[in-house]
Amino acid sequence: MVKETVVVTRRIAESALNLLSSRFKVRLYDSDEPPGSEWLEVNIGDADGVLCMLSDKFDLDLLEKAKRLKVISSMSVGLDHIDLDAATRRGIYVTYTPDVLTDATADLTWALLLGIARRVSEAERFLRGGLWRVAWSPNFFLGSDVYGKTLGIVGMGRIGYAVAKRARGFDMRILYYQRHRLAEDREKDVGARYSALDELLSESDFVTIHLPLTEQTRGLINEARLRLMKPTAYLVNTSRGAIIDEAALIKALRERWIKGVALDVYSVEPLPKDSPLLQFENVLLTPHIGSATIETRKRMAELAAENLVAVLTGRLPLHLANPDVVRVRPLG
Ligand code: DGY
Repeated sequence: MVKETVVVTRRIAESALNLLSSRFKVRLYDSDEPPGSEWLEVNIGDADGVLCMLSDKFDLDLLEKAKRLKVISSMSVGLDHIDLDAATRRGIYVTYTPDVLTDATADLTWALLLGIARRVSEAERFLRGGLWRVAWSPNFFLGSDVYGKTLGIVGMGRIGYAVAKRARGFDMRILYYQRHRLAEDREKDVGARYSALDELLSESDFVTIHLPLTEQTRGLINEARLRLMKPTAYLVNTSRGAIIDEAALIKALRERWIKGVALDVYSVEPLPKDSPLLQFENVLLTPHIGSATIETRKRMAELAAENLVAVLTGRLPLHLANPDVVRVRPLG
């Protein structure tokens, strides 16, 4: 029997690779760097499945070259790199890896929130730069309290909710906004109050974004909304960069409409070396590492492999992003 061909676009956990190679012919791009679009175009042509990353763009052009493709299994929770409608029309199952990265991403959100409030990376730069001359003084490196403050969570899905759980340990007042209100008992469990977005922005001391990037959320945090925030408030984003209008954010920082910003994600990644964001001391920047723990990345790779195996062996995957595809190409 001829084995199906599966393309894997990056070096991933061995356990995940073993799961795939026990069943399929695996064509691995054996690197931590992304393959160029040329490699993808050539290798996707006769592939039955692909396990990809969030930085591999599956647009209409690429999908048209994928003549046999039945499944795109993304090792990510975000899916804005895949043209879902085009995949569905072609009968390509798109799977993703939610849940397993929720806690790691919520933890990083808190690392950023605490880090920007207490000026951790700015203080470290100062010390390493040899600038620490006075041992202690009452007005030295003052940050802001976190405990007891108001936290505004924009997007109360899995990750937003995990961020809220952690906020309870800091005795925070929690506001949240998303399109649909949570069930009352879910709100009560974390002590969160449903709020309009504008109210959340104007009342919160810390605003943290946890939305997927869609046509509706692109640029959601625009100039008008940034202007609603308090001059003492901080903005944190570990979801997708393009949800914040970056030009408006830079203006907000220049004109001090807000106190500080902590970002893990950007509208262009890697962040260009000449980005004005790099010039501000009150901006804490990490390079899209929300889910980057050893344990989480292993689970993400394994789940992505399991989702892929499920589709190619005629079973519904655990996490299917385009359920309508079942009508286009029934499994089995
Ligand atoms: C995702 O999976 O979409 C995250 O951004 C990865 O960290």
